[in-house]
Amino acid sequence: MSRVALYDRTGGPEVLYIGEVADPQPGPGHVLLRVGAAGLNPFDSKLRGGFIPSDAPFPRRIGGDVAGTVEAVGDGARYADGTPIAVGDEVLGHANGSVAERVVASASELARRPEQLPVEVAGGLWVAGLTAVSCLVTVPVGAGDTALIGGAAGGVGFVAAQLAVAAGARVIGTASERNHELLRSVGVEPVTYGDGLADRVAALGQITAVVDTHGRDALDAGVRLGVPVERMVAIAAYDAVGELGVHNAERAARTPVNLAKLADDIAAGRLVFPVAATYPLDEVVAAFAAVDASHAPGKIVVVP
Ligand SMILES: NC(=O)c1ccc[n+]([C@@H]2O[C@H](COP(=O)([O-])OP(=O)(O)OC[C@H]3O[C@@H](n4cnc5c(N)ncnc54)[C@H](OP(=O)(O)O)[C@@H]3O)[C@@H](O)[C@H]2O)c1
Repeated sequence: MSRVALYDRTGGPEVLYIGEVADPQPGPGHVLLRVGAAGLNPFDSKLRGGFIPSDAPFPRRIGGDVAGTVEAVGDGARYADGTPIAVGDEVLGHANGSVAERVVASASELARRPEQLPVEVAGGLWVAGLTAVSCLVTVPVGAGDTALIGGAAGGVGFVAAQLAVAAGARVIGTASERNHELLRSVGVEPVTYGDGLADRVAALGQITAVVDTHGRDALDAGVRLGVPVERMVAIAAYDAVGELGVHNAERAARTPVNLAKLADDIAAGRLVFPVAATYPLDEVVAAFAAVDASHAPGKIVVVP
């Protein structure tokens, strides 16, 4: 049996409670993980709150990001390079219902965890890291580009901003004042989001691409400053995709191979991926309250 975070109705973090469930045997191509860390995402909150509809039966589990230890292996479960996954392997990736002591994961969503990568960092990487990669596959930037990243101190935005800098682009990122120093520390020029954003950005130079991870304002600034819609991508302003004709992030880049590359970059210090706070499983309500407050510079992670 394992302790897991569950909810019986949609609502705020307070609907979550800890229950016990039987551990399933992993089927073909799957493994059973002992969860070492489960990073939380706004997506989990949107599902729990009912803002993203789901017809999954109650009680529902919560979470997706995960890092942990393989405890059982189903037939044919292999890494992307074809090597069989073995009991005792340390992995990171994605598994539905990861906020728990144990969870079943598909081998197709797992990579090996580098030894130097702390488990609580690895446990929050899949969604934020691979969404950032997806944004820059959709709208590639490089030398000669000036990219505006909306929400650049957030989980997705902070990785996207660093990947854009590494690709040779000049990067301007929107954030609250208290996160400006953080952005400067990775080579990003900070601007405050909100009213007048387009003017503040224009004062810094001509932008050529926009990645928006929060809402409309970076996209609206891009339109006003003459960025073609095919050079803009949005992951949270769903209405803007239809209204403005900007891109959704390309999903094909969400692969274990890209995850392993991000994990190596963080382990080697080429990419900064902060953890804001860790919480034990019993404090899952407080952990999600911190996610919903949405301003932590870094991931909120449950360590069961
Ligand atoms: N479509 C997809 O595939 C996909 C995938 C992943 C995430 N998402 C969505 O993308 C969004 C961001 O996810 P995340 O994990 O990066 O969230 P996060 O870590 O909670 O970061 C959110 C960031 O938004 C910034 N922010 C708050 N108010 C803002 C405003 N008015 N204008 C601009 N930025 C503002 C905050 O910056 P400060 O702290 O500096 O105030 C914060 O750092 C969420 O809505 C999430 O659901 C979508």
